[in-house]
Amino acid sequence: MTKTARAHTNIALIKYWGKKDAALRIPLMSSLSMTLDAFYTDTTIEKATGSSDFYLNGKKQTPANSKRVFAYIKKLQQRFDLKEENLVVKSTNHVPTSAGLASSSSAFAALAAAFCAFYNINADKTQLSRLARIGSGSASRSIFGGFSIWQKGDSDETSYAYVLDEHPQMDLHLLAIELDTKQKKISSTRGMKDAQSSPFFKPWIARNESELKQMIAAIKNDDFTALGKLAELNANEMHAINLTAQPEFTYFEPDTIRAIKLIETLRDKGIECYYTIDAGPNIKVLCQLRNIKEIIENFESEFNNVKIVSASFGPGVTYSD
Ligand code: DP6
Repeated sequence: MTKTARAHTNIALIKYWGKKDAALRIPLMSSLSMTLDAFYTDTTIEKATGSSDFYLNGKKQTPANSKRVFAYIKKLQQRFDLKEENLVVKSTNHVPTSAGLASSSSAFAALAAAFCAFYNINADKTQLSRLARIGSGSASRSIFGGFSIWQKGDSDETSYAYVLDEHPQMDLHLLAIELDTKQKKISSTRGMKDAQSSPFFKPWIARNESELKQMIAAIKNDDFTALGKLAELNANEMHAINLTAQPEFTYFEPDTIRAIKLIETLRDKGIECYYTIDAGPNIKVLCQLRNIKEIIENFESEFNNVKIVSASFGPGVTYSD
């Protein structure tokens, strides 16, 4: 009997960018995200008749591309005192892989849930969040729908996500603007490690608690303006520490800057929107329903062949047979 677990990707409004413990993925800061309805991963685990294999979108992956998945599975097998048997993992990613939409968040949340379903492990959502976290930090938040917070904690037991509001009524939409679908060059894992050499890394950590509080207040007050401004500031702080790392690096491409300028122009015209950017060149626009059409039209006239996907709040982990 096989079960498929589905997890949706999430976008951090207060970002995770820095680890205290790399092996366990204990972060140096708490983060807050919105789970998205438009992007998700379906994962099934089956017993292998031969070697362990990982299929992504129907294609068998090379051993190099399967390494992270099976290293993770091995960790979980050890954790639950299970036999290290070979497994076949099949994932379908409804996310542009490595295009800066943190596909690892939905991938490892779905994998953690599929693992527990396969082995009949009765994990509650807190435990699932901790297991997902070990695969990829941002995955800890994708166990939940709506708005969720990953409390940094200081150990494997205390570092997990929880729901802030599972079914938010807020008028908040995200437009994923796909400017550049090339594989990113610097993984999040690597980028957040290198960023620690920035002279602004300490101030970045020091600001986390108050930024998280302000973001929670913006959500509770249904204040889109406060949420958008703070999400944009927080993203720019993260990219500023990359630019000031030693040696410096950036995820920005020329089109990223063009997109930022377009958002500034739209705001000048009275169309309220803000941006956030993860570990890639693409921009995500935060906006309200009434402005979606006009923002899309503006991006389409500024960029050739731009792909835009509109998203709003998505659910937490689900299962199907
Ligand atoms: C910029 O969760 O991909 O999207 O734990 O090393 O797998 P690892 O990192 P990952 O990092 C996500 C970084 C981010 C911000 C965020 O989602 O909070």
